[in-house]
Amino acid sequence: MPKHFLSILDLSRADIESILDRASILKFEKQRRIKHETLSGSSIGIIFEKVSTRTRVSFEVGIHDLGAYPLYMNSDDLQLGRGETIADTARVLSSYLDGVIIRTYEQSRIEEFALYSSVPVVNALTNDEHPTQIVSDLFTIRENGIDLDKLKITYIGDGNNILNSLIGASLLLGFELSIACPKGYHPSSEFIKKVKNNGKLDLVIGDDPVSLIKSADVIYTDVWVSMGQEDERKERLKRFKPFQLDGKLLKKAKKDVLVMHCLPAHRGEEITDSVVDGKNSIVFEQAENKLHVGKAILEHFIK
Ligand code: CP
Ligand code: NVA
Repeated sequence: MPKHFLSILDLSRADIESILDRASILKFEKQRRIKHETLSGSSIGIIFEKVSTRTRVSFEVGIHDLGAYPLYMNSDDLQLGRGETIADTARVLSSYLDGVIIRTYEQSRIEEFALYSSVPVVNALTNDEHPTQIVSDLFTIRENGIDLDKLKITYIGDGNNILNSLIGASLLLGFELSIACPKGYHPSSEFIKKVKNNGKLDLVIGDDPVSLIKSADVIYTDVWVSMGQEDERKERLKRFKPFQLDGKLLKKAKKDVLVMHCLPAHRGEEITDSVVDGKNSIVFEQAENKLHVGKAILEHFIK
């Protein structure tokens, strides 16, 4: 049975530590143009049903760096888009490929693919989770000198895929996570239940960003309207307005707090220009590190 990476909960603390350590080496080597073709001779499929800038390009380049062949497929280019079943697609593609990276809608779609795939499947974002992003973000936090054991993160905004994977990571590593989000947009109780099945979860959920960010080492935010929620845009913009991360709110946090966002940012909505481009922001470090950590993740699951 191949080992899949469908949820952050598929990792242990030791897995995360080993991926982060390996990513440091891969980053060091990349910067010095030292080759690391550890997946030489492999072919890795990338099936995306939603658009992507960072995840797609960093995985394509990363796969090339590892000496493997990246094969990008938009689901509309496949018979999958014309009604071939996920199960049949998974059986066929996994007979050609050594690993498959998938971005899709419902978590059940990637789970079904994995069930019928004879090679590892990696989640590159679903409605429920974005686990490769969060592992990469832990790397960026650690690289900024913060001890992951003592870390305090405050997440402001929507109870979405990014937050879910962050919640899972907080359980695995034991860091403090508090969440400021409007009523009705909390992380789903079903997901929280799934996390709680894996251990003791210590979450603070409130609706006052000012009080929650005071002692945070990291403030994390994400878009208010995720891919697939475009019809809810008007209502969401109204409900989330008091949760904007702007200069005034940032002043209430510690001076050296790190501001994180997985990007793409909707400047002027969840975050303002002055904050994204300000001195506390590490959003472009996050984006770069997706390359190095993505490679370490592929080595971990596919090697
Ligand atoms: N952060 C992230 O996953 O960005 P993309 O949607 O551009 O891949
Ligand atoms: N929550 C966002 C993340 C994008 C990387 C979305 O799902 O659209």
